[in-house]
Amino acid sequence: MGIAVSAEINPQVAEFIGKPRKMLINGKWANAVSGKTFPTYNPATGEVLAQVAEGDREDINQAVKAARDAFDNGPWRRMTASERGRLIWKLADLLEQHTEEFGYLESLDNGKPLAIAKVADVPLAVDLFRYMAGWATKVEGNTIPISSGGGKYFAYTLREPVGVVGQIIPWNFPLLMAAWKLGPALASGCTVVLKPAEQTPLSALRLGELIQEAGFPDGVVNIVPGYGETAGAALAAHPDVDKIAFTGSTEVGRLIVHAAAGNLKKVSLELGGKSPNVVFKDADLDAAIPGSASAIFFNHGQCCCAGSRLYVEKAVYDQVVEGVAANAKKIRVGSGLDPKTQMGPLVSEEQLNRVCGYLEAGFAEGAKAVVGGHKAGDRGYFVEPTVLVDTRESMKVVKEEIFGPVVTAMPFTDPEEIIPRANNSDYGLAAAVWTRDISKAHRMAELLRAGTVWINCYNIFDAALPFGGYKQSGWGREMGHDVLNLYTQTKAVCAKIG
Ligand code: NAI
Ligand code: MG
Repeated sequence: MGIAVSAEINPQVAEFIGKPRKMLINGKWANAVSGKTFPTYNPATGEVLAQVAEGDREDINQAVKAARDAFDNGPWRRMTASERGRLIWKLADLLEQHTEEFGYLESLDNGKPLAIAKVADVPLAVDLFRYMAGWATKVEGNTIPISSGGGKYFAYTLREPVGVVGQIIPWNFPLLMAAWKLGPALASGCTVVLKPAEQTPLSALRLGELIQEAGFPDGVVNIVPGYGETAGAALAAHPDVDKIAFTGSTEVGRLIVHAAAGNLKKVSLELGGKSPNVVFKDADLDAAIPGSASAIFFNHGQCCCAGSRLYVEKAVYDQVVEGVAANAKKIRVGSGLDPKTQMGPLVSEEQLNRVCGYLEAGFAEGAKAVVGGHKAGDRGYFVEPTVLVDTRESMKVVKEEIFGPVVTAMPFTDPEEIIPRANNSDYGLAAAVWTRDISKAHRMAELLRAGTVWINCYNIFDAALPFGGYKQSGWGREMGHDVLNLYTQTKAVCAKIG
């Protein structure tokens, strides 16, 4: 496999990563108060890619102060909704013009194939900003007929921005997660302190430059890179932050909830998953087999909604498992910059160790790999696309989120038994069913306890479609018009008129 990183890096990217990157606070690029920096790595090689200012409590304090001031006193709140929408649209245009550059940044920092970053991550982020730009002018209240006081009152509601928002994002889709968070917050008129993941801060920092170029007022978006335990924890606990939005592990989601309790800030969470992907014997297997492979292997399995529990009706179990394994075998694993690559490395050594640890736990409990099962290559953080069989619901590999290219396959005999088995998880982010029977498909969609159900497809995302978790997969919905509920609050106004 071709792990060598091409020397022909995009010149703007080479310049961007060539010097230590600073943090964006109140419209200025600043070093950390402590003067510290931290390295971000190229996961294809394990080498240091760039140095980045290491924000901690002091920097978060300054960023929150800037966001507070921009919200309370700045031009942002006096701007019309239409002007806000135009700024967001302009940001989308700028991002689109730099698709190539952002593709490289994502590929280098996260490891994903450049070609995929350019056709998925960047355009989805552009589309999200455009969709949210449209919402800026459409956040409306209601007039409410009230009966108290004999009807001599005129009552209405205002939808107002929630205020200063802290946003903590993960490394699996660094740019797209920044867009999912920033788009609705800006459309709603909030101000933001964004903390990108320490593994992948580069695209968010470059986006910060475009935010300035678009003309957002100073302090509306502040970006503080740093570690979770320091910068992230300080943001989640900050008494002057009105709302915290988090995407990441369920474990840290719980810490966020505790940290938010101090000032009872609003919280939204998008956490882990262990999504069931159910293939019935009446499915179009020519679609279900490659669909089930990409359900788990897309983004190297580093998707919160990855189809990681594959349930197949017994009559077609062998055929589907062999088919998914054949798809896995064909995947070309290598450096994200190599145009032949279809799957890059995992994001970090920590994730490599975590995923390999799960594989070992699976083998110790009796699972067998029909394909893959090991680390790949001798440098970088690569894992072979893996299909595990002989798995049972009690196994760690079936219960816990692996967040790597590892699917556990299990047969079922009775279509009635599959609902409780599919729902037998602390998580409830996504699920999929493959069948030609439309009644069965919609019945399953109703009974599956998940925030998204895909029928005869997988990993279809759209800025207009709400996304979020049931059960321990999270609180709230991102995207669609639902997300505006996370960034606005309702004020009831009641006037005596008679
Ligand atoms: P993590 O939850 O630690 O990191 C996500 C973000 O939270 C990062 O920006 C990190 O700096 C921040 N963070 C970490 N500790 C924090 C704290 N105490 N207070 C505030 N912010 C904090 O996730 P990690 O360790 O990178 O990955 C571990 C596992 O989490 C993965 O194997 C996967 O199972 C899951 N995960 C789920 C994601 C999703 O999309 N739902 C994304 C990333 C990870
Ligand atoms: Mg962590």
